[in-house]
Amino acid sequence: MSPRHLSITGGTPLKGEVRVSGAKNAATKELVASLLTSEPVTLTNVPNIGDVEVTLAMLKHLGAKVTRTGGRVTVHASKLKTFAVTEAFSRKNRIPILLLGPLLARFGKAKIPALGGCKIGARPVDFHVEALRKMGATIDCNGVYVASAPDGLKGAVIELPFPSVGATENVMLAAVLAKGTTVIQNAAVEPEIVDLAKLLQGMGAIISLDVNRTWVIEGVESLHGAKHRVIPDRIEAASFAVAAAVTGGDVTIKDAQQEDMLSFLNALRRVGVPFDVQEDGIRVRGPARLDATTLETDVHPGFMTDWQQPFVMLLTQAEGVSIVHETVYENRFGYAEALARMGANIQLHKECLGSKACRYKNKNQRHSAVIVGPTPLVAANIDIPDLRAGFSYLIAALIAQGTSKITGIEHVERGYENILGKLRRLGAKVKVT
Ligand code: EPZ
Repeated sequence: MSPRHLSITGGTPLKGEVRVSGAKNAATKELVASLLTSEPVTLTNVPNIGDVEVTLAMLKHLGAKVTRTGGRVTVHASKLKTFAVTEAFSRKNRIPILLLGPLLARFGKAKIPALGGCKIGARPVDFHVEALRKMGATIDCNGVYVASAPDGLKGAVIELPFPSVGATENVMLAAVLAKGTTVIQNAAVEPEIVDLAKLLQGMGAIISLDVNRTWVIEGVESLHGAKHRVIPDRIEAASFAVAAAVTGGDVTIKDAQQEDMLSFLNALRRVGVPFDVQEDGIRVRGPARLDATTLETDVHPGFMTDWQQPFVMLLTQAEGVSIVHETVYENRFGYAEALARMGANIQLHKECLGSKACRYKNKNQRHSAVIVGPTPLVAANIDIPDLRAGFSYLIAALIAQGTSKITGIEHVERGYENILGKLRRLGAKVKVT
């Protein structure tokens, strides 16, 4: 397929209603969970995005039967034919590593190729590997992860060095069928993980969230089929909220969940963006003036790192000096350079410019940003490097003077369903050639 070129002409306020799709970062993990039973698992509200495509292709390759009608996907993994994920699925996203638990449960062994995903830092999987070793697996990693646990995995007390989303999910997926009880301390508690736990409980798992970021999972003999609705995507919801605010628009974001977005909505309020929480969504309007702010990304319930890119985009239009301290990834401001070419004033710093020092103090990583605004933006030619940065560029183009030419839209389509259609329905001037 030849690369598509996108033209976006800025200057139109976004108006109307948009419905957010199911969350990528819940749906993909829940599809993996469906391998833990030989009975059918049906998920609804599954987004039609690149990362779901890749995950379903991987499940089919392992031998699962997949049926899909719109957002309804049934995975029936009655028999799996291989424990080895081939190189073809290597470097596409971060999902394959999560197959370790289910494949060890089904086969006592697993072979997983190198991981991909957005280039936003080193993104090692040492916590995953250490935790599964503690549960009795032998794992060699020489480019390919080769794991075995011929006598099955056993419960363990695992304290994660950092509340990693993927490592928490991996241990959870491995623990539901392990012998005995697993306790994950300093675990991640993101809404997408709670959603995964809800599916697993629906499949027969015994799983609870204790105080102080602790998951307790009592292993059971087997799991059964279940039906589950994937939670709405709070990253997509926040991205549209920023697009509405910064274009001076008025958008009702259907299915946006206030309880999963408290820290984002607080940040919107601090910069002066009016919003109303409604029964089935959140309405966001463009303010007369945006105020500068300071914020720090953090694990849930903090301000999530995936909201950082659209929010920095918003801050380029705020009056005064804003500071954003990224504490989850060491290298998540790469997109700032293209925004600077469009006229934004963003300086990156190696110091922790937040209220507390983070893991990247003295690590020589540019993980704090100072944004001086407001700066008018002008159209540019942009090649999208990754998913979340990609949406920020689309927002930048929506307010820039002139027509921006954009390539690499497939990165955005990995994570946002029908993104161009949704933007057009809100009035954005978007053309694809
Ligand atoms: C998930 O990535 C999401 N991806 C990311 O969203 C999200 O930014 C991230 O969680 C944080 O919320 C998916 O769910 C597919 P982590 P994950 O393990 O699980 C370090 C998007 O755009 N770490 O919580 O890979 C790691 O390097 C993506 O949808 C280790 O050091 O994130 C990072 O600095 C981008 N060793 C931090 O922890 C490990 O073994 C958090 O990573 C694991 C992680």
